[in-house]
Amino acid sequence: TKQYRVTLLPGDGIGPEIIAVAVDVLNSVGKQCDIGFEFNTALIGGSAIDDTGEPLPQETLDTCSQSDAILLAAIGGYKWDNLPRKQRPETGLLGLRAGLGLFANLRPATILPQLIDASTLKREVVEGVDIMVVRELTGGIYFGQPKGIFATETGEKRGVNTMAYTEAEINRIVKLGFETAQKRRGKLCSVDKANVLDVSQMWRDRVMAMAADYPNVELSHLYVDNAAMQLVRAPKQFDTIVTGNLFGDILSDAAAMLTGSIGMLPSASLSADGPGVYEPVHGSAPDIAGQDKANPLAQVLSAAMMLRYGLNESSAATKIEQAVTRVLDAGYRTGDIMSEGMTAVGCQGMGEALLQVLEN
Ligand code: NAD
Ligand code: IPM
Ligand code: MN
Repeated sequence: TKQYRVTLLPGDGIGPEIIAVAVDVLNSVGKQCDIGFEFNTALIGGSAIDDTGEPLPQETLDTCSQSDAILLAAIGGYKWDNLPRKQRPETGLLGLRAGLGLFANLRPATILPQLIDASTLKREVVEGVDIMVVRELTGGIYFGQPKGIFATETGEKRGVNTMAYTEAEINRIVKLGFETAQKRRGKLCSVDKANVLDVSQMWRDRVMAMAADYPNVELSHLYVDNAAMQLVRAPKQFDTIVTGNLFGDILSDAAAMLTGSIGMLPSASLSADGPGVYEPVHGSAPDIAGQDKANPLAQVLSAAMMLRYGLNESSAATKIEQAVTRVLDAGYRTGDIMSEGMTAVGCQGMGEALLQVLEN
């Protein structure tokens, strides 16, 4: 039996509810595929602040670095929204990404045929959508210096963030973008704001220079405002999108809605060599936390991405993905993806349905 050390980061809000479902699913698939998981739970976000005073205790970072993969749910909540920046849950998540060198965030947005009616867009617009957003995750305006709120000479305050990328940071994410496109349908769209931002002009220049190495990839460029519009107007034109940290954050939430609900979207955050973090695109959904209403499928599909990208266990990953389509075929729906004639279930009910199809 192969054994993997997986660190679980349940975090806040709906986090503990959805990660419990993913753990049950992993254990069930593990049994069938002769894989064992040694799960280790660690603190991050608001729950870590409550326990230790900081959103990313050193112990959590150490445990994560020593594991084969990390499954993260979500962090954040109203309770911690007014703390100083350094003590906010989000700062813990950014620290985890930086600390593990997770420069690449893969966010697939695939519409499952079963959920076409759950999308707010027309069937003919979303049917067949299959997009991969490759988001830069450890640079850009999230990390650039200077940053902060400063006093000016007049006594007025001035808030500052800096959007900055080095060529090396651009090269490694764009390379991954090209390689991802090569393995998919051979189309790469780079999204920037080169008409206004110098950092984006440099990004675009790098992408154009690198294109020569990938003659079989059909490359295009879009400004981010147009990209947002095109994603909603005609999403099927996209295959792989590569973009910076902030633009990727925003565009992937928009792409999520093509698939029916943000509760369906998984992601993988990868580094050059160490363990990856596998996490849903959505947040801690404090508005529905503790009510057994959350859709656990983004978390479950993140566990599948962990098996595929992190542990090289693609047949176990496929089993999970098939279980998801089978529970949807059977008509089970959480509130966010509910449509007429379907069977309403909660987070736990969806988990039970998954175990049932996995064990039969
Ligand atoms: P959110 O993604 O948590 O929620 C947005 C909306 O989507 C809410 O109405 C929520 O109920 C719904 N939703 C999200 N996930 C769902 C699921 N699995 N099933 C059903 N419905 C779901 O975004 P927000 O409200 O802007 O942020 C809430 C908190 O989460 C904030 O503190 C934010 O900073 C944090 N956040 C964390 C992460 C992360 O941990 N990776 C990501 C995004 C936001
Ligand atoms: C995400 C979240 C995070 C981000 C926040 C919570 C720091 O929105 O993972 O998409 O902006 O990257
Ligand atoms: Mn986000």
